[in-house]
Amino acid sequence: MMEHQAKMIVDKDFTIGEVDKRIFGSFIEHLGRAVYGGIYEPGHPSADEQGFRTDVLGLVKGLNVPIVRYPGGNFVSGYNWEDGVGPVSERPRRLELAWRTIEPNLFGLNEFMDWCKKAGTEAMMAVNLGTRGPDEARALVEYANHPSGSYLSDLRAAHGYKQPHGIRTWCLGNEMDGPWQIGAKTAAEYGRIATETAKVMKWVDPTLELVACGSSALGMPTFPEWEATVLDHTYDHVDYISLHQYYGNKNGDSANFLAQSMGMDSFINTVVATADYVQAKKRGKKKINLSFDEWNVWFHSNDADNKLDPWQIAPPQLEDVYNHEDALVVGCMLISLLKRADRVKMACIAQLVNVIAPIMTENGGAAWKQTIYYPYLHASLFGRGTALVPLITSPKYDSIDYTDVPYLEAVAVHNEELQEVTIFAVNRDLNNPLPLHVDLRSFGGCSLIEHIVLESDDLKAANTAAQPDRVAPHNKGNATVSGNEVSAKLAKASWNVIRLKINK
Ligand code: AHR
Repeated sequence: MMEHQAKMIVDKDFTIGEVDKRIFGSFIEHLGRAVYGGIYEPGHPSADEQGFRTDVLGLVKGLNVPIVRYPGGNFVSGYNWEDGVGPVSERPRRLELAWRTIEPNLFGLNEFMDWCKKAGTEAMMAVNLGTRGPDEARALVEYANHPSGSYLSDLRAAHGYKQPHGIRTWCLGNEMDGPWQIGAKTAAEYGRIATETAKVMKWVDPTLELVACGSSALGMPTFPEWEATVLDHTYDHVDYISLHQYYGNKNGDSANFLAQSMGMDSFINTVVATADYVQAKKRGKKKINLSFDEWNVWFHSNDADNKLDPWQIAPPQLEDVYNHEDALVVGCMLISLLKRADRVKMACIAQLVNVIAPIMTENGGAAWKQTIYYPYLHASLFGRGTALVPLITSPKYDSIDYTDVPYLEAVAVHNEELQEVTIFAVNRDLNNPLPLHVDLRSFGGCSLIEHIVLESDDLKAANTAAQPDRVAPHNKGNATVSGNEVSAKLAKASWNVIRLKINK
């Protein structure tokens, strides 16, 4: 039987690729209380002059979020962006069919761009390819990005926004393969409309980067044929293909739940292979990179959502209350993204506030950090640099859906500028600590900055308004460093961030 300890070799020359900071992005959809009661709540004690909650802004800024996708999600497939600009008193209230609510349109494109500035982030905008198409998309780009001297750019100026917003990254629709999507399409239908939309958007603004919709989940019956067909149409016109994936502990088997990021690994690898197949078929020079623009744990709120009455404004939809084991899965998913930093160039934890989110609020009340806030925070703060190949030897287990699941899930990132190496590691073992030995052979001597640990005796422990710090990290982990060797005993079911300074 294999010894119950894990080994990892990290060498600064064995690189995966530069980490694009945009993999630490997030998502705000007009859904539930993400906008109304989340980032925007005029009348809240912390609201600023525009109605933005400054308590929420503080928590968002703490995460150093580089990019935020907006306005959907399923919402975008029925959205008229024009409803959300101009004098607020003249904006229509609409039936919102994706989530069966009333959309009051008190918040729209210009407010979102102002919010992004205050949050220190960039926008990733989605266009409606459900009920609309190229005409609406080119109009939106003209309104948002054209400097002046045309009807829509002058309209933007008349709305108080003389300077163009300069939005660079755009999604061509959302989950267009899903039967639940307003205006869902076959791969060929979507490939055609995405191509024609991309053409006119880039004719208005050639600096745009465009994301084509991939499958809305690994389990979709059309995956990966969808990607092959869509890229066959769009290859010359787009830069990224999207991936979406959510996990949940639906059968109550935590060991199986923790293994699910292995599915994310194979999802990414298959999309890379499919994109490269299309490149080869086209004799193309361009690599299509990946935008994993929706990922998270999502299942806790499913039953409650089914019981909600329709046609409310900002009801509490998709309000998953996350526990400790969810944070471990989120940690594993972040490691999956870093392990393919060579090709995953954008990613959005879905979502940012209240709706399956790291930040929760009460209307009129407090804002607090869910358990999943922490792995996302640590990866965003310390995961920038060059991702290094994790050569891992680990004891393994079998679960219902996965075999040979390594107890250790880990990756390291080298930040050359700061002369730091950070090891992100999850111990999937629910019952035992995992001794870990890391050989940092080419780094010379290192010293420990800190060993951050997120652990809990209760996998189901969660943070709430009443107990906002029930699950929170400490930096009293037991890692020790001797020269270029690191030893630690990773607590059972724990998320670990071992931060090392490279000695001169
Ligand atoms: O993030 C919640 C929803 O999940 C999004 O609206 C949709 O794109 C996905 O199905």
